[in-house]
Amino acid sequence: MSLIDKIDKNRLPAHIAIIMDGNGRWAKARGLERGEGHREGVNAIKRVVEAASKASIQYLTLYAFSTENWSRPTEEVKGLMDLMVYAISRETADLKRNGVRIRTIGDMNRLPGYARTALEECIRETAEGTGVTLVLALSYSSKWELTTAAGRIAADVVKGVLPEGDIDEETFAGYLTTRGIPDPDLLIRTGGEQRISNFLLWQCAYAEFYFTDTFWPDFGEDALYEAIIGYQGRERRFGKTSEQIESAQ
Ligand code: IPE
Ligand code: IPE
Ligand code: MG
Repeated sequence: MSLIDKIDKNRLPAHIAIIMDGNGRWAKARGLERGEGHREGVNAIKRVVEAASKASIQYLTLYAFSTENWSRPTEEVKGLMDLMVYAISRETADLKRNGVRIRTIGDMNRLPGYARTALEECIRETAEGTGVTLVLALSYSSKWELTTAAGRIAADVVKGVLPEGDIDEETFAGYLTTRGIPDPDLLIRTGGEQRISNFLLWQCAYAEFYFTDTFWPDFGEDALYEAIIGYQGRERRFGKTSEQIESAQ
């Protein structure tokens, strides 16, 4: 029995978010440049998107570049942007064929023009996809997202288009870059660190966390299925008691 058969199709996480960490250490352990780790990381992305499609996951969000990552050495930042553009351009046709729909979250205005253009093209090309929605978090951080939302809400209140009394959780969520995307049910972080690194702080309010020591370039189909199976072994109580959850089933 392969791992995918052990997944309960009736209790799938609708949205899996992944902090893809460990590319640099993967490369270092092999005496390679960090860039080699990032290149191998792209292959892992391809495997995981295919695995998520096979498992009928609706939303997959990948943390590809954080606001804080702009502070890395200039050559590494440039290398990551070039790699992203290369991978996006190379994979668009395949993504389209597989029904994958691309979306981005983050401060796209900070990306170099050529990267924005490549992403916009990919988003346009894959817009009709009805399979997994692949959300790429680029130049993303939660504190950026939340402060931007607060500013836009304040502006709308001043303009009179948003009555102050209407600001509830749903309205607030509508001002985030994740507008329309359900909150992640499962957050995976590879690479051994157990921290959230400014990722989806609002959206992960009730996510199940899954940490693995596996470096991102070594992550693959079975690793994703193991995480889903682990998730299905958890009891999500949302503040209620175990007895309440059981009697509702
Ligand atoms: C994750 O791998 C990729 C990005 C943050 C872009 P890292 O580059 O952070 O790898 P480590 O953590 O140094 O091993
Ligand atoms: C988090 O990884 C960001 C991405 C995976 C894109 P980092 O490697 O940048 O995280 P920290 O700074 O070590 O927490
Ligand atoms: Mg890292």
